[in-house]
Amino acid sequence: MNKHTPIKPPASLLERANELYDFGAALRGPAQEATPVAQPASPSVAEPEAAKAPVAPVAAPAVAPVPPQPVVRPTPAQAKPRAHIDRDALRAANYIDPEGPVTGLSEEFRIVKRQLLLAARGGKGFDAIEHGERILICSANPNEGKTFCAVNLALSMATEKDNRVLLVDADFAKPSVLARLGIEGGRGLMDALADPSIDVEDLVIETDVAGLSVLPAGAQTNQDTEYLAAARTAAVLDQLTRHDPARIIIFDSPPALAASPASVLALHVGQAVMVVHADVTTDSALRDALSLLSGCENIQLLLNRAKFSPTGRKFGNYYGYGA
Ligand SMILES: Nc1ncnc2c1ncn2[C@@H]1O[C@H](COP(=O)(O)OP(=O)(O)OP(=O)(O)O)[C@@H](O)[C@H]1O
Ligand SMILES: [Mg+2]
Repeated sequence: MNKHTPIKPPASLLERANELYDFGAALRGPAQEATPVAQPASPSVAEPEAAKAPVAPVAAPAVAPVPPQPVVRPTPAQAKPRAHIDRDALRAANYIDPEGPVTGLSEEFRIVKRQLLLAARGGKGFDAIEHGERILICSANPNEGKTFCAVNLALSMATEKDNRVLLVDADFAKPSVLARLGIEGGRGLMDALADPSIDVEDLVIETDVAGLSVLPAGAQTNQDTEYLAAARTAAVLDQLTRHDPARIIIFDSPPALAASPASVLALHVGQAVMVVHADVTTDSALRDALSLLSGCENIQLLLNRAKFSPTGRKFGNYYGYGA
């Protein structure tokens, strides 16, 4: 009688990418070694803080005493008007719907997010890695799904009650994050890097997805890489963290092989996610791209658009995208 092969637990998109592209120990940072632990599903979107508890002072009642009101500390997010994120556009483009039901896609990003957050914050026996709260999303070539993954990861992380997520459009030549979310652009990171009189925090746009804010790319210059390489970049990024230490900062970058900002940004982040387009990204392109990101010590591969999933999960099946 044939022996049954033991069934392996479902592999995450990070693990499957590593099986496909064997870059071995060169890639393994702390987050790589950490086995993602299944957690109870978090609610799709946390109720906006403002809606949870009234902050207006309560007048002393004439008769019955009012029970003590919880102290609500205004977060930076509450101070600004919120831009509306176009849920219909997200759904139409097969992105995670912040208020939608749990889907295969949201589950995949939940697993990826756990691993990145563990490296960012530490826990379960692992120390937090330096600047692990800054995560660069990159790929070797154009069109491999960087923005798709950056936006979905940000939406997924924003559901974490203790986190706030700042999604930075760092693709200065071809910014697309705000358009994907249906938000109007404006001044952004590059403006703050080019002009020391600008407070980068003033350019952060709060959104009506609780916990999610975005920073536009800003005006492109012909010296983007030089501005990024200057000392001011570290100061501007530090300022973003100092303003809100609970923030996870996700950078949507240009392709590593097509533009130089990605390799410079890699110097400033604690973690990088290299999106690989299943069946398309070649081994040599990936190897070249990884060497360009060598400024970051913790790089993980994330498999996008795999047509075959041993787990039967659907992420990457194009969902009607393209052919
Ligand atoms: N797994 C997926 N399922 C469905 N659609 C996807 C998936 N991955 C990417 N796409 C779609 O493919 C197109 C290209 O993806 P995306 O814009 O994220 O790539 P990119 O790497 O950011 O490209 P660029 O290098 O031009 O910035 C987009 O329309 C995106 O919505
Ligand atoms: Mg993009």
